[in-house]
Amino acid sequence: MGSALKPPIANPASLRRYPLLLPLCAMAEVDVAPTLGKTGFTNDHDMEKRRSDSELDEKDPHFGEKVDLENADEVGEVFTDGPRLIDIGEDGKERPIDTAADYATRLVSLDDDPTTRIYTFRMFFLGLGLSCFASVLGQIFYFRPQTIYVSQLFIQIIGFVLGRMMEWLVPGPSEHALIRTPDNWFFSFMNHGPFNLKEHVAITIMSSTASSSALAISIFAAQELYYEVETEIAVGIFTIIASQLIGYGMAGIMRVFLVWPTYAVYPQTMPTIQLFEALHNGDGMMAQSKRRKFFWGIFIAIFVWEWIPEYIAPTLTGVSIFCLANQDSAWFTRVFGGAAGNEGLGLFSLCFDWAYVGSGGSAIGSLFTPLSTQLSLYAGVLICIISFCACYQMNIWNAQNFPFLTQLLFYENGTEYSQLLILNDDFTLNADKLAIQGLPWYAASQLLFLISRTMYIGAAITHFFLWHFKDVMQLIRGGKDSIDDPHFKKMKVYPEMSNWYYFAMFIVCFGIAVGTSYGAHSQLPGWATLIALIFGFLMLPVIGTLYATVGYAPSVQDLMQMLGGALVPGKPVANMYFTLYGYNSVTQAYTLMRDLKIGQYTKLPPRATFFVQVVGSVVGGLLNFVIMKVVITAHRPILLDVQGSNIWSGQQVQSFNTAAIAWGALGKPLYATGTQYGFVPYMLLVGLLVPIPSWYLHKKFPKAGFQHIFTPIVTAELGYLSAGINSSVFTSFVLAIFSQYYLRKYRATWFRKYNYLMSAALDGGTSVMIFVFTFAVGGGSGKTTAFPNWGLNPKGNPDYCKRLSD
Ligand SMILES: *[C@@H]1O[C@H](CO)[C@@H](O)[C@H](O)[C@H]1NC(C)=O
Repeated sequence: MGSALKPPIANPASLRRYPLLLPLCAMAEVDVAPTLGKTGFTNDHDMEKRRSDSELDEKDPHFGEKVDLENADEVGEVFTDGPRLIDIGEDGKERPIDTAADYATRLVSLDDDPTTRIYTFRMFFLGLGLSCFASVLGQIFYFRPQTIYVSQLFIQIIGFVLGRMMEWLVPGPSEHALIRTPDNWFFSFMNHGPFNLKEHVAITIMSSTASSSALAISIFAAQELYYEVETEIAVGIFTIIASQLIGYGMAGIMRVFLVWPTYAVYPQTMPTIQLFEALHNGDGMMAQSKRRKFFWGIFIAIFVWEWIPEYIAPTLTGVSIFCLANQDSAWFTRVFGGAAGNEGLGLFSLCFDWAYVGSGGSAIGSLFTPLSTQLSLYAGVLICIISFCACYQMNIWNAQNFPFLTQLLFYENGTEYSQLLILNDDFTLNADKLAIQGLPWYAASQLLFLISRTMYIGAAITHFFLWHFKDVMQLIRGGKDSIDDPHFKKMKVYPEMSNWYYFAMFIVCFGIAVGTSYGAHSQLPGWATLIALIFGFLMLPVIGTLYATVGYAPSVQDLMQMLGGALVPGKPVANMYFTLYGYNSVTQAYTLMRDLKIGQYTKLPPRATFFVQVVGSVVGGLLNFVIMKVVITAHRPILLDVQGSNIWSGQQVQSFNTAAIAWGALGKPLYATGTQYGFVPYMLLVGLLVPIPSWYLHKKFPKAGFQHIFTPIVTAELGYLSAGINSSVFTSFVLAIFSQYYLRKYRATWFRKYNYLMSAALDGGTSVMIFVFTFAVGGGSGKTTAFPNWGLNPKGNPDYCKRLSD
């Protein structure tokens, strides 16, 4: 008894997050020895290390749970009323969600019915239908002045509503169908019964995969518009397929340590998972119907509320007491302003617009990202505020010559730098012209952003080796059988995808990638494609472990562009392709891993997850391609025009191209050793050192809590405020403390049942509102209807801070 729930804990960092909670775990004393024997780690040395590492290990709450998973199906059911045995701490009250095992067993249901049908008419119809809808819409809006982003929660909610409708409308043997039919194979394919969780998960994964526009499309569009290279249909299609799928090939090989084990929590998936369960499981149970009402109530409330800050009263996006008190100080704007893009750092500003606050651009949600991740992030933000202000005040790197926050390049005297003056007609670098114009300058804030993202890579690498490497090697050596995760065990009834499929996929895509790079006039030599892919492959475990455990991994895009610029200098298009294979493949890989984890939590068989994901990528990519061709053919002159029209605009392609030119043409001269920014690449080496002090201190003082400092996150966000709307940062921080500290610790039952669902409802309601808003008044239908100016919709900065630029 009591020893079955012992997932391998391979990540000390995520496990021993909150020493404050240790008193709860005295029960562990009895159970420690058998527990350690069953973690799946056969290596004695490793166990020894684990035991002596710190007492925290042994006192970890979940080791003390008296739960026998083998025959306790109620374990993990989040919809029973009141705390279950597994939720009770040793003081008789519910203990907080704390460890990886808590996430896996107390927030997610272990229920599964392997006979549930997945490949139904509804699944294909809605999966493909929503894939088409999301990818076509996304691509059209790529060429519009507004952007539309079809989020996963949006698809999840729409998919649910449509799925329930089809349950009634499609004839079939189901008792819900309006037209009941005999139960033969055809009609049972059409509508066999209630819309189930697994169909819903499959639909959501397929169409949310399709909804993200393939990066290859931006490249083709830039080539067609600015380089007069027509992408041949075959080359285009194969490039899309190769670039979208090659990451999946990489990911498959790593799922033994990035998907299957308990420590790969993917905390960012919790709102989605809990919403799936709230919508489908526990029919007729009081607690569950309360949760459903809670969800829809919040969903509707936020949908209504969002019209106010988004449209009627933009001042609510950033209420700054300081700016209201003093509206003529440039420094007040820089430090306290932040309701408009690139306005200021938004310190102490209050934001009442959920589109900016909690969802944080859907990457770091205040309510679902673990506390230590968020605190690491905000520690970085604090340093960011201080260093931005210090650099500007002390005029380091000529900061005062340029705007405080800006992403543009400048001459030393502050005039905007014109890239066209240093390029040949084919947009490659002309060294003579560059010598005349001189090298461009960055604003200090932008330079700090680039420095921090370079250091981040170094820090992430060392962090991986210090904290994860041993455990990862253990898992790789132990293979499937060493994995003790309760969800994974339940998944064993389904056939796995063999590693060979993934490997074959990787090899085939690699061949296509090298081949099409020549066919697509990429200027990228085959060896550089190979380096990009190898680099992506090596970064994958490093970034992937962060993404899986910490819940958030900043992008490696800047590094890849820099590297591409150094390896294949002077060629913007080559830089685009280098980024495509070095960065896009990594992104694709961890999207697949996250979705495989969603599959594991919801018991969608691995082959089904893989199948819907591949279908989603291919369908989405092909439709993107078709739409791009059609739009460019029809509207080429408008897209090439700087202003565009209010319906069509080439602005996104243009800024994509500008970035590629900046990196491709200037990457080498700008960062060559000996020039003013020559030190930036070396910051990667500095970054390598950053995780060492806290790791060493943790070894010395295991109880002091140094393991909660995620140094890669701290360093990555030293430039967090360098762009965009910053008024939300303080409010997000307060919410994070409220939810992830106060609610989690002191309202543990409420937190377990409602916190993640609340996040899903707020994000879902907001994304539906933004969608409707864009078409109704936001210009999505071709006509923008602005709300008249009034007290809370002023002409200048919405938060009344002094306007510094136009
Ligand atoms: C700044 O320098 C550039 C290049 O040397 C020049 O073209 C521009 O006119 C200058 N701007 C001002 C305001 O002096």
